[in-house]
Amino acid sequence: MKFFIDTANLAQIKEAQDLGILDGVTTNPSLMAKEGITGHDNILKHYIKICNLVDGDVSAEVISTDFEGMVREGDALAELHDQIVIKLPMTKDGIKACKYFSDRDIKTNVTLVFSAGQALLAAKAGATYVSPFIGRLDDISTDGMHLIAEIRHIYDNYNFETEILAASVRHTMHIIDCAKIGADVMTGPLSAIEGLLKHPLTDIGLAKFLADYNKGN
Ligand code: G3P
Repeated sequence: MKFFIDTANLAQIKEAQDLGILDGVTTNPSLMAKEGITGHDNILKHYIKICNLVDGDVSAEVISTDFEGMVREGDALAELHDQIVIKLPMTKDGIKACKYFSDRDIKTNVTLVFSAGQALLAAKAGATYVSPFIGRLDDISTDGMHLIAEIRHIYDNYNFETEILAASVRHTMHIIDCAKIGADVMTGPLSAIEGLLKHPLTDIGLAKFLADYNKGN
């Protein structure tokens, strides 16, 4: 399972990278704004900084909503750095743009996916990644994890190569449940990733080992 971090915060990206378990980064316009990164040029510069911090794929989202605009923007983003993955919204034009980029071997991430049918279309268009939003489905009393299972089932039926990138991961149990179902990738906050480290018996056991060691010294 690949681990992506879902943030534009450079300090958090570096912390995850230094842990040695990071496979990539996802961003979106809201995450950029949260870090105070605004304006076209600043956003592009920030993508380059992120790419230089990590080894893996970095999703950069287009702002255009029409096919021609998405293609123009995506082509420019792809030129920025070879780690950039073009993030496209799950719309009619987004699917057309996804096919355009996949035909040219440019990686894509189809985002804002909330149904199995949308995920099927993204795979048909050759998406590298499909991003079903677990947390936002949970927010409206719909089981986000069920969607991951449905997509896994459909993709396995036809050996689609599109990777299921579980997004809108909010906490540690989301990661574990995604791993049980077989999501290829998860993207979440640093707090959810670090939650995997924790167990009180580990802390108690370590304290006891150290105390016993110190008895003899
Ligand atoms: O990866 C998508 C993500 O950024 C959305 O997360 O928490 O805003 O639903 P959230």
